[in-house]
Amino acid sequence: MKDLSEHLYSERHYWDARFKTEEIYEWLTDLNSFEHLLLPEIELNDKILHIGCGTSRLSHQLFGNGFHDIINVDFSNTLIAKASKEHPEMKWVCDDMRSLDNIPSQSIDVVIEKASIEAMLSNEKSQWTLSEKGENDLCSTYQAIHRVLKPNGRFISISFTQPYFKVPYLVKEPYRWDCKVETFGESFHYFCYKMRKGRTPNLIDLDNYLRVTR
Ligand SMILES: C[S@@+](CC[C@H](N)C(=O)[O-])C[C@H]1O[C@@H](n2cnc3c(N)ncnc32)[C@H](O)[C@@H]1O
Repeated sequence: MKDLSEHLYSERHYWDARFKTEEIYEWLTDLNSFEHLLLPEIELNDKILHIGCGTSRLSHQLFGNGFHDIINVDFSNTLIAKASKEHPEMKWVCDDMRSLDNIPSQSIDVVIEKASIEAMLSNEKSQWTLSEKGENDLCSTYQAIHRVLKPNGRFISISFTQPYFKVPYLVKEPYRWDCKVETFGESFHYFCYKMRKGRTPNLIDLDNYLRVTR
């Protein structure tokens, strides 16, 4: 696994340069190791939005499993231009996940992200206290995801970030995601965060993760 603390990972020009030659790179882990957590959450006719898709095979594997209504978003125009020519069976949209300006409100059943929020925050010095910019970027992303989801829509985040850092931001106003945390992986543990729009967070279940930052 590459080190996501590299500060260039939040910069579009870094990804544009990298995607000129990169064909496939899977960050963290691939669908095989978390399909038991993800597949029960999605239905075949769901409209799926994969944000910060990069050159991951995740959308391709989902497509192969019968999920055919997939929109891939990345802020690298280099990637989106290349992928839309090579894989016209799916939609490819160049957009910034902090605003998702090109995605209509309440149009998506499931938003999926894997390691893209971590890339966006890779400049942060400490996970315990995000900088003002880091916090704004994170909250804008959660707000944009909330806006594009249909009522009852789901947001699934595959991440290596510990729940102590992630949950306090997820339960914040105005989106106030309810959130279920699941762990997977053998030698290295990853997290699958499952959020549902319109459901109030269960602060009693999440208390362990909130206590540390109070
Ligand atoms: C670490 S890679 C993860 C790629 C893929 N999700 C995976 O798991 O293999 C981060 C991806 O997020 C994209 N990205 C970073 N910041 C973004 C932003 N603000 N808006 C949209 N995409 C962004 C990058 O272009 C890159 O493709």
